[in-house]
Amino acid sequence: MSVHIVLGLQWGDEGKGKIVDLFAKNSDYVVRYQGGNNAGHTVVLGDKKFFFRLIPSGIFHKNASVVISNGVVIDLEVLLNEIRILQNEGLDLRKKLIISPRCHLILPYHKELDLAYENARGKNKLGTTKRGIGPAYSDKVSYNGIRVYELQDWKLFEQCFRFQAKMKNKILKTFSVPPVNISRELKKIKEYRSKILPYVEDTYELLINAVNKNKNILLEGAHGIMLDTDWSPYPFATASNTVAGASNAGTGIPMNKVKKVTGVVKAFTSRVGGGPLPTEIHDDLCRDIRRRGAEYGTTTGRPRRIGWLDLEAVKFACDINNVSELVITKLDILSSLKKIKAGVGYMLHGRKISYSSCGYSELARLKPVFKTFTGWGEDISGIRKYSELPKACKDYLSYIERFLKVPIKLVSVGAERNQYIRK
Ligand code: IMP
Repeated sequence: MSVHIVLGLQWGDEGKGKIVDLFAKNSDYVVRYQGGNNAGHTVVLGDKKFFFRLIPSGIFHKNASVVISNGVVIDLEVLLNEIRILQNEGLDLRKKLIISPRCHLILPYHKELDLAYENARGKNKLGTTKRGIGPAYSDKVSYNGIRVYELQDWKLFEQCFRFQAKMKNKILKTFSVPPVNISRELKKIKEYRSKILPYVEDTYELLINAVNKNKNILLEGAHGIMLDTDWSPYPFATASNTVAGASNAGTGIPMNKVKKVTGVVKAFTSRVGGGPLPTEIHDDLCRDIRRRGAEYGTTTGRPRRIGWLDLEAVKFACDINNVSELVITKLDILSSLKKIKAGVGYMLHGRKISYSSCGYSELARLKPVFKTFTGWGEDISGIRKYSELPKACKDYLSYIERFLKVPIKLVSVGAERNQYIRK
């Protein structure tokens, strides 16, 4: 195995952190290739819980180096905070963390703009994480971005920052938002710079050499396919492409080097932020699943919206990413339910309609077709063998496999590192 991608096939928060951590055991490199600190991955180690927003989830494995490659947008303060937490755990990150100079920076005015745009949208707000992600990526594609590359040359950085900050302050003024204090921010960034630069190195050559040496490289997708900037019900999206193909642009590794794509699917659906969620559950059951699944945003703490598993959407995600195997997470959360549903198609005006042909207005109006399964009604969190799962549980899983035409390789039945079943 050389290059292996792990992706979330829903609206994010599928439980990828634990799965990446599991696969990372055999990896030489674990790479984040898109998104920013709008992502949040949880890894549970014994009685300690770690939240990573930027640092790839495999960081705790002795043999794995972690790479933040060029597709990622970096908030220096957040990254330094994660570095500090890991150093306090005794990790020598100088030997483990590599950051691409091509990464674009999330700068203070991006966060102000994110907030200003959201406030201006009023009741139509998108529910962004307010981390400056959209404004940072839009600067990237409009040639206004500033990268780690510029940060390496302080004079150049200062010049770019002053120019951009002045422009952004004019925009902020139109929203009646106080301007960014340029000299104060420059002082802070100068301090961050000296702490970040030791980790900066060209990640393309590093990764291509690793591919050529047949090293094990794990590419960790952030967010979920339904948030992809092209394939979501835009604008209810995030600002990066989340599909497997983004790993090529985000790392430089050619797609034909990818040997396996693992799709992570939560046994139900969750979503933070606005936008249509076809299989959404609105009653007490929503609150019950949210409570038992601790479905609150890792990054923002917001309560997540809850729905039944939407197989129509997940089928699209399997197809567009050529997913080779599935991991089903949080199956234990459904254990006490008498009946479990899964969305198996969409109907609009009496006709079948596919996920890919829907925009947000179709997704909001359509009626999902549900299939109902008998619940298994027993705790499965202690089970470690597939054969020992209750029959009703195996029936639910077999249906998912048949519908998606992709084999399930792993089922996660709890947050702890060892709470999983290989199939
Ligand atoms: P942004 O990425 O902060 O611009 O937010 C855009 C949308 O994507 C919002 O609905 C966010 O809640 C959602 N989003 C972004 N990243 C994640 C994630 O990692 N998990 C779940 N939702 C996310």
